[in-house]
Amino acid sequence: MKNKTIIITGGAGEIGVATAKLFLKAKCNILLVDIDKKQLNTVKKDMNSDKVAICVADVTKEADVKKYVKKAEKEFGSIDMFFNNAGIEGVVTPLTELKAKDFDQVMQVNVYGVVYGMKHVMKSMSKSGGGSIVITSSVAGLQGTAGMMPYITSKHATIGVMRTAALEGADMGIRVNSVHPGVVDSRMMDSIEQGLGGDEAESVKEGFKAQIPLGKYAQEDEIADTVFFLLSNKARYTTGATYVVDGGLTA
Ligand SMILES: NC(=O)c1ccc[n+]([C@@H]2O[C@H](COP(=O)([O-])OP(=O)(O)OC[C@H]3O[C@@H](n4cnc5c(N)ncnc54)[C@H](O)[C@@H]3O)[C@@H](O)[C@H]2O)c1
Repeated sequence: MKNKTIIITGGAGEIGVATAKLFLKAKCNILLVDIDKKQLNTVKKDMNSDKVAICVADVTKEADVKKYVKKAEKEFGSIDMFFNNAGIEGVVTPLTELKAKDFDQVMQVNVYGVVYGMKHVMKSMSKSGGGSIVITSSVAGLQGTAGMMPYITSKHATIGVMRTAALEGADMGIRVNSVHPGVVDSRMMDSIEQGLGGDEAESVKEGFKAQIPLGKYAQEDEIADTVFFLLSNKARYTTGATYVVDGGLTA
């Protein structure tokens, strides 16, 4: 892994940062990409390493996606690994009340953002002899949750992106897989519990917990470990696969 280069989108978020820490320990070059400039600067400062670079970019804008790919190539040479991870939870609302703009917003980030990333990173990797990619889907890509149509739809869609990219990437030496976290002890889950439960958010959390055979929410590093494995050479025969990290929730 030493001196290999990884791009991480959603690089200022909780799963992105936990993953970046693992890759930094392995002495990789890291480009963290996020729309949140302030948080990105804080993370860069905390990581305190000249192997970490940042790029403020909106993954929904193809020009921004080209910009982060160029930046990684310029800073570090070629791109070996890509954690295509930025995502938003969107609004929680019954389908009958769903507004088109709320649906669009989630699809823009969670689907278009992921697709643009695949397009431009795979172009770059194909020129440099290949690489490996992990897309962050969710258990929401495998099953439904009432009230979360945009998020659920977007995370199912990323499986189609992953499978197609794995087939097209094989000849280019590019492996593509998806990781499906369950419920993580995180800002995003706090927001979803609030959306589903309002004043009863705590009982929503207890309800989720009760369905998890391993009996607890995941920590970010438990997701990051699987991402690290999939991106590494240890998973060299694995492509087109969905990896669930959910404490048994979907079992
Ligand atoms: N937290 C969970 O429980 C959980 C569970 C399953 C899947 N996931 C998925 O994991 C991924 C990471 O989630 P997280 O928990 O770290 O959430 P997070 O909100 O902490 O991080 C997401 C990051 O993406 C960034 N982002 C949002 N829109 C963007 C855009 N248009 N361009 C660039 N960056 C943008 C945000 O600024 C944020 O830093 C997401 O795809 C999420 O759907 C999370």
